[in-house]
Amino acid sequence: KITPVVLSGGSGTRLWPLSREKYPKQLLPLVGDNTMLQETVARLDGIADLADPFLVCNEEHRFAVAEQLRLLGKRGQILLEPFGRNTAPALTLAALWAQRGGDDPVLVVMPADHVILEGEVFRGAVTRAVGLAEQGLAVTFGITPDCPETGYGYIQRGERIAPDDAAYSLARFVEKPDRDTAQAYLDAGDYLWNSGIFVMKASTWLSALTLCRPDILAACTKALAAVSQDGDFVRIDRAEFEKCPSDSIDYAVMERLSTGQDGLPKSAVIPLSAGWSDVGAWDALWKVLPKCEAGNATRGDVLLESCRNTLAVSESRLVTCIGLSDVVVVETNDAVLVARHDATQDVKKIVDRLKAEK
Ligand code: GDD
Ligand code: MG
Repeated sequence: KITPVVLSGGSGTRLWPLSREKYPKQLLPLVGDNTMLQETVARLDGIADLADPFLVCNEEHRFAVAEQLRLLGKRGQILLEPFGRNTAPALTLAALWAQRGGDDPVLVVMPADHVILEGEVFRGAVTRAVGLAEQGLAVTFGITPDCPETGYGYIQRGERIAPDDAAYSLARFVEKPDRDTAQAYLDAGDYLWNSGIFVMKASTWLSALTLCRPDILAACTKALAAVSQDGDFVRIDRAEFEKCPSDSIDYAVMERLSTGQDGLPKSAVIPLSAGWSDVGAWDALWKVLPKCEAGNATRGDVLLESCRNTLAVSESRLVTCIGLSDVVVVETNDAVLVARHDATQDVKKIVDRLKAEK
């Protein structure tokens, strides 16, 4: 069986003012009619042997997550974190939970807040990945980079696994390099961005973690020892999870895989050209939205006159813009953002200032 694991713990700060702590971007319909979480859950439909998904989220979001799943007509187990400890503990909880009853499914680990425009291409890549994962490999997906982005992991591909194969061995994994290093990787030509989607058996992750971060494994095991189930919700022991160190999948394990250290699983990277975007900031959302000839994209009640490359989003009233170019305008009930495309990363600075003033 293949078990989708959807990680839904982020707060999507850079998509403020639409994305809020109480209602982060993955719970919003930013691109289509469905929310990003729903798109993620539905993305694997059609793959053979698919089990119900596990969703790992903050307990504050449990009702929204359950309701969104219900609206899709799906069932799933919703693992509730009392607080975020980053992605390595989140995946560890899912892997341990997947193994109860003696199973060892292949996990398809997906962030809840990514856009993939070409689902069919993605499912093809996942199917290949599942084949490799069944042989014990940890599989990543690589995106062809087009700028020295420092917010991503970089994967150097090695040899093709078989001459006619879509998959390569993973030569090196470097999480969030500095700008000069990222530029050097871009120039080298054999590096890909890590998509943040991983495919491996539950046991593959747990045995890698035993070597790399036994402390995280121990804390998550204890947190699950006192588990309680209430419908589809799975609650873990708060006090034990509080002691769990915080770390990401990438730093905790992925960076170590290419060292060839004894006992670590083999790894692979499958290049993915499926219209992937992690929609990190408003300019990234503009890029993936359908646009008119002038490059404008709108959501909600918006009227544009003589604008170019403008993203305008209205939540609660009519928004009109005249003569703008390369600008993002986002209106909500209690806040409005107007920013240049190339400055939308700095939305985080505004959010930090707002938090400091509170
Ligand atoms: N359940 C849970 N709990 N989910 C979490 C937590 C947590 O504590 N922290 C983060 N997540 C979820 C986020 O919602 C997101 O969907 C996903 O896990 C990845 O976390 P990010 O915090 O967004 O990671 P990142 O963007 O800095 O880096 C990762 O993604 C990049 C691609 O978007 C890495 O894998 C990079 O290597 C990669 O390039
Ligand atoms: Mg991210």
